[in-house]
Amino acid sequence: MTIDRHVTGRGLAKDLGQWRIAPGGTAYVELAERIKLLVLDGRLPLHTRMPAERELAAALQLSRTTVAAGYELLREGGFVRSRRGSGSWTTLPDGPATRDLSAFAPAGDGTAIDLAYAALPAPPEQFTAAMAVAGTLLPRYATGNGYTLLGLDSLRDAVAARFTRRGLPTERSQILITGGGQQAIALTLNTLLSPGDRVLVEHPTYPNALDAVRGAHARSVPVGFPATGWDLTTMAAAVRDAAPRLIFVIPDFHNPTGRCMDATQRAELVALGRRTHTPLLIDETMTETALDGEPPTPFAAYGASASLSSDSGSAPVITVGSASKTFWGGIRVGWVRASRQMIERIARTKASVDISSSVLDQLVATHLMGDIDSVLATRLPALRHTRAHLRGLVERRLPDWRANEPPGGLSLWVDLGSPVSSALVSAASQHGVMLAAGPRFGLDGAFERYLRLPFTLPDTGLDKAIERLATAWLALPSTGPDWAPAEVA
Ligand SMILES: Cc1ncc(COP(=O)(O)O)c(C=O)c1O
Repeated sequence: MTIDRHVTGRGLAKDLGQWRIAPGGTAYVELAERIKLLVLDGRLPLHTRMPAERELAAALQLSRTTVAAGYELLREGGFVRSRRGSGSWTTLPDGPATRDLSAFAPAGDGTAIDLAYAALPAPPEQFTAAMAVAGTLLPRYATGNGYTLLGLDSLRDAVAARFTRRGLPTERSQILITGGGQQAIALTLNTLLSPGDRVLVEHPTYPNALDAVRGAHARSVPVGFPATGWDLTTMAAAVRDAAPRLIFVIPDFHNPTGRCMDATQRAELVALGRRTHTPLLIDETMTETALDGEPPTPFAAYGASASLSSDSGSAPVITVGSASKTFWGGIRVGWVRASRQMIERIARTKASVDISSSVLDQLVATHLMGDIDSVLATRLPALRHTRAHLRGLVERRLPDWRANEPPGGLSLWVDLGSPVSSALVSAASQHGVMLAAGPRFGLDGAFERYLRLPFTLPDTGLDKAIERLATAWLALPSTGPDWAPAEVA
């Protein structure tokens, strides 16, 4: 086995972010728990050489005995291995096969409540109808070879028609169908980036996009959010200073904050991309979850002067979208919208990993696109209701927390009032509620004060989840009355 990277004491302290140690001699347990979460989240990759105990102790201002005990606990749990002369490195209890997958595992035993995903079940009526139609159409396709690199014409047309209807004239040739929005992001990054490139990202952002940036051997340059809207001044400064190859933004009901960018900022961001020749990768996965009004005009409409066939001269706006939030994550259908030339480049990348998306899934998605008004007519009122219900529950049962009121999306972004999100998520899992901790949405251990709370369950599920969360919260040592902060820089 090769140990291909290492983390310094200061680097690990930074990844651990702001954290607090409860009094009573459990510092090493908390240290081990937090390092374990970093490994499970993939924020501390496997086979990373850990800092020497003395170095980490100095960086965290802890005793060496505390760090040694923490490392011992990690060794016992199978998260660290050590060898005399070679130091210690990160591992997983069941070996490399389980790498990073804990975040994707279904909340298994049937009693756990899964709020780690912000996603809905399929709309039952429309989904059954779409399956029936797909079933009757499929035999026609089955006489051919079944390969559709760019996607089925009928689905490309349906996606193009939706863009057009929302205010951005679009043709079939500008659409590439992918196996979900995540694949659309990864393919675009892998088409445009070279190893070592930088990508400007919002901070917080959608965590699997951060993983995709890492997967393309590029680095994320994070820009935080101001009190409202987007911080375009800092984005412009970051473009100047870091010269990113690409800007990745989720302007519609941003995951996890739920924010929606206004028209003025959209125009400004397009202008920034043009001025600096920096392509914009715009993630519109959440677009159809507008809860307080019409879905926003597609972002690319603000940069529509780029020609249909090429991006000659100006920086392109590349849009990715998905059927997952509008219909169901179980049909793996997403798309890229760009100039014809860019679509062809990204399709060549797709061919290297996936030479066709599933015809059956595409047929189902085509029919659902035709039924979108009826799906949204039931889905959006139900989401408005669960958003209000969850906010009410938080207000009553967890009054120290501050939940936002997002204009769309599928989750609340909650300020916990203290940097305990990872500890809470760890405790909540013991009570049968699976959640994604705030730092999952950021870099360097940021967002420990925040928790994403999806409102994707019916009232009874949310009632039960908040009941269990409130129990976990009260049992956290760091929320008790005699708790004293011991923050680590
Ligand atoms: C902002 C954002 N982009 C992309 C995706 C990927 O969606 P999928 O690959 O299921 O289409 C998600 C899923 O949660 C998301 O929230």
